[in-house]
Amino acid sequence: MTSDPQPVHLSDYRPFPFRVEGAELTFRLNPSATRVLSRLHLVRQAPGDLRLDGERLEVLSLSLNGQPLSLTPDATGLTIPAALIPEGPFTFEAEVRIDPAANTALEGLYMSGGMYCTQCEAEGFRKITFYPDRPDVMAPFRVRIESDLPVLLSNGNPVAQGTGWAEWHDPWPKPAYLFALVAGDLVAHRADFVTRSGRPVDLAIWVRPGDQDRCAYAMDSLIRSMRWDEEVYGREYDLDVFNIVAVDDFNMGAMENKGLNIFNSKYVLASPETATDDDFARIEAIIAHEYFHNWTGNRITCRDWFQLCLKEGLTVFRDQQFSGDMRSHAVKRIEDVLTLRARQFREDAGPLAHPVRPDSYVEINNFYTATVYEKGAEVIGMLKRLVGDEGYATALDLYFTRHDGEAATIEDWLKVFEDATGRDLTQFARWYTDAGTPRVTVSDDWQDGTYTLTFRQETQPTPGQPEKPPRVIPIAVGLLNPNGDEIVPTTVLEMTEAAQSFRFEGLAAKPVPSILRGFSAPVVLDRKASPEERAFLLAHDTDPFNKWEAGRALAKDVLARMVTEGAEPGPDWLDALARVALDESLDPAFRALALRLPGEDDMAQTLHEAGVTPDPQAIHAARRRMGRALALRLRPQLPALFDTLREPGPFTPDARAAGRRALRLAALSLLTRLDEGQAAASAYRAADNMTEEVGALACLLDIGRGQEELGLFQARWQGDRNVMDKWFALQVLHAAPGEAAATAERLTRHPQFDMKNPNRFRSVMGALSGNHAGFHHISGAAYRLTADWLIRLDPVNPQTAARMSTAFETWARYDADRQAMIRGELQRILAAPGLSRDLGEMAGRMLG
Ligand code: ARG
Ligand code: ZN
Repeated sequence: MTSDPQPVHLSDYRPFPFRVEGAELTFRLNPSATRVLSRLHLVRQAPGDLRLDGERLEVLSLSLNGQPLSLTPDATGLTIPAALIPEGPFTFEAEVRIDPAANTALEGLYMSGGMYCTQCEAEGFRKITFYPDRPDVMAPFRVRIESDLPVLLSNGNPVAQGTGWAEWHDPWPKPAYLFALVAGDLVAHRADFVTRSGRPVDLAIWVRPGDQDRCAYAMDSLIRSMRWDEEVYGREYDLDVFNIVAVDDFNMGAMENKGLNIFNSKYVLASPETATDDDFARIEAIIAHEYFHNWTGNRITCRDWFQLCLKEGLTVFRDQQFSGDMRSHAVKRIEDVLTLRARQFREDAGPLAHPVRPDSYVEINNFYTATVYEKGAEVIGMLKRLVGDEGYATALDLYFTRHDGEAATIEDWLKVFEDATGRDLTQFARWYTDAGTPRVTVSDDWQDGTYTLTFRQETQPTPGQPEKPPRVIPIAVGLLNPNGDEIVPTTVLEMTEAAQSFRFEGLAAKPVPSILRGFSAPVVLDRKASPEERAFLLAHDTDPFNKWEAGRALAKDVLARMVTEGAEPGPDWLDALARVALDESLDPAFRALALRLPGEDDMAQTLHEAGVTPDPQAIHAARRRMGRALALRLRPQLPALFDTLREPGPFTPDARAAGRRALRLAALSLLTRLDEGQAAASAYRAADNMTEEVGALACLLDIGRGQEELGLFQARWQGDRNVMDKWFALQVLHAAPGEAAATAERLTRHPQFDMKNPNRFRSVMGALSGNHAGFHHISGAAYRLTADWLIRLDPVNPQTAARMSTAFETWARYDADRQAMIRGELQRILAAPGLSRDLGEMAGRMLG
């Protein structure tokens, strides 16, 4: 056994003692024996040896200033002793051999469906050649690719090409994690763009032949992103070409390599027949995200991986702003908060909780998390709320001018805001360094025309952080009078103490408060409000987020009482919700969101926080009763709701049309609880787009039907990997609790199941953990199956195995039997021979 991998600490950061003035790479591509020649031009900056990272490289030759070096690398790299290094500039050359065809970890250079591609973030470049593989070493790259494949791409601008070769030059100094290479038999969907200062840019999306008619939406999203970044942030594109490549085998969503973004094909390819409205929205958001990285990530990168949120939090924040501008800010905000709670609050409440800027890690790939990304974006939203829109704009301009071309830190980022606005952000910085979700409790008082709101904040200890000093919390508040008119418009209260009161004077009557408008801070708001007050806000709040939130809180109160007291939904909730559902003055997308019942995992967390041990089966059963009660209440209106929202004419993926389809499907789902699936079965057959095809099928599976439709779906789509992922996932996601594990197990034996393809693996095993009652079924079958497959996947693709292991992160919520079963599975994983650093770190942290 090798010794336990050692953690890396933020406090150990030291600058690299050399500068790389240029990197020249030549690739002689071959599936199992690719040769990589590298020539690095270096200059010493400080004393010390030259340490280059390198893993699994077969060394063919090494030289320094043309003199052969007889050095042997160790398992993680090569050290060139200081004594061998001349004063002044020098050149290091290496030739190594690597095996892309055997690279199933999908990190470094690998093959996917006959094409070569790379994924270097975070530390994949060291699997390509020897290099200081750290983000603070930035250099211009020249790349030559030799291969018989017709399309040969790398970063930057094309320099020259001939038969069997191509050369690229990237003038912008970049860290190695932004390096990319693609070679394949690909076709392009092309467009032109002219930046606002007049630079023409050739845009191309490269896909496998046959997929080129599914690129239009991604291209349109790219063009809108480029324009938006110019208009809103003043950021222009800076190369002659911008290439995007779609690959089927990819560990994550996409990657912002300079000038050559590489995407998981599911976030590029779309047509009305194959992609749902959610797919279209995600494509738009991810295309924007990767494009926006060109400034927030590439031009200004991170000093070290602890600063990951510097680029990810900011870029998520920017893509959320963009999607809001393109669609609806209200709907986008609600969806983002739903995701934040489902993923980040869950993470923050369990054994994997970590700060937005962590201070140690074993495997950095385990920190591409909801906390770094989504909470990282929330922190920027709060900063903007605190300094105002103008302060934010000034700070961002300063950030771009001050740090362009640099590898920066969170301290640099906060300093920019301090310098631009004169604000002291010392306390605010805790949002970056302290893990955990603050819980804010509210009480109020009314006396002689003065209304007082008192807030208390408390954050539970998280791993390694027992003490939680108070944070700055921007709490946006508005007040309504009893008639429902707004008497105090949205005001941001700045909470800085553990407990703090705010007074509103000169009011005629006791107001109804609307607190945490727009979800102004990522906290759990604990306010014991009556059902009447919630229903009042659902009807009258002028803040769309809080209007929705009031309905949500009402529904969660009802569901909690159904689970714990066996109560049934009363007319207050049903009537309030029915009014919103049928209010034609509201955006259909908003109405659809209001009709969405609280999720089972969310309910489990809420009950746990209220001191109740959640019973997944009971939550599942209560939620079904809740849906049926709502369906009965809306019975007379459902058929009309379903029919009148039908879109005339051909499919368009815009937000308005998508919102109408969402409400239509919400109605169909309710209808299905009353008509045994008749309407859904005919909707399935009538569907002329994937949104409705999948929507109707999900309705049927939810009531234990849909077998015939599954057969039709498979017959129609078996040649399409991305669509078949939906077929796999739906069956598991909508299986009855007692059948989920068996369904997933059966699907792993399907001839089209392939654990080497992360999308396919996730569509089965990710769906299993997404089926809350199925995953936590008391038989323990789903726990066992998940652990079996993580152990099997780990040697093949440790990164994806580690990521999927978060299915187990909530074990502490549940009863002793389930806890023992989950911990047993985690122990079994930890004991697996040859366990990866990735999965080992995750299992170890979850066990505590
Ligand atoms: N920087 C990419 C993005 O968010 C994510 C790449 C993460 N890859 C990884 N192996 N951890 O756009
Ligand atoms: Zn990103």
